[in-house]
Amino acid sequence: MTIEYKPIGVIRTPYHNRSETPKAGRDAPDTVCEIIFDEEMEEGLRDVKPGERYALIFCFDRSEGYKLTVPVRGVGPMKSLFATRAPHRPNPIGLSEITIVGVDKNVVRFTGADMFDGTPVLDMKPVQSPDYVPDDSQTQQS
Ligand SMILES: C[S@@+](CC[C@H](N)C(=O)[O-])C[C@H]1O[C@@H](n2cnc3c(N)ncnc32)[C@H](O)[C@@H]1O
Repeated sequence: MTIEYKPIGVIRTPYHNRSETPKAGRDAPDTVCEIIFDEEMEEGLRDVKPGERYALIFCFDRSEGYKLTVPVRGVGPMKSLFATRAPHRPNPIGLSEITIVGVDKNVVRFTGADMFDGTPVLDMKPVQSPDYVPDDSQTQQS
């Protein structure tokens, strides 16, 4: 089976290579970056508010190949791929938790970037949706 996704925007950051780019967004918490969503996505951003935490899902478009055992943070110790956040993966999908700084039409400003400038966006969703209803079936007494 082949799955195809179309990017819905692009991430603008000051990072252009591995040495400039934080390994995790918390390593540069004050750097404000931008997501330029395609203009037709603007209505879908209407209820995104400053201060909210979102999962930003993107493509590691400059990743090549993968190994199933990798050095943690590029330097070690060695760990199995799926127990790490390494960018070189069979499906090069990135997931970063970001904080919204502001929204202007189709442009979202945020902190928490750990991706290269020009990285394609696949999706964005709240870390914890206000619509989320916990499943309390495990705790209910009969
Ligand atoms: C360790 S990954 C973590 C990314 C994300 N938080 C995650 O967990 O999926 C971050 C590193 O991926 C690399 N990277 C960032 N953007 C990339 C891109 N568009 N293509 C390939 N590698 C990228 C950079 O070396 C960066 O330091």
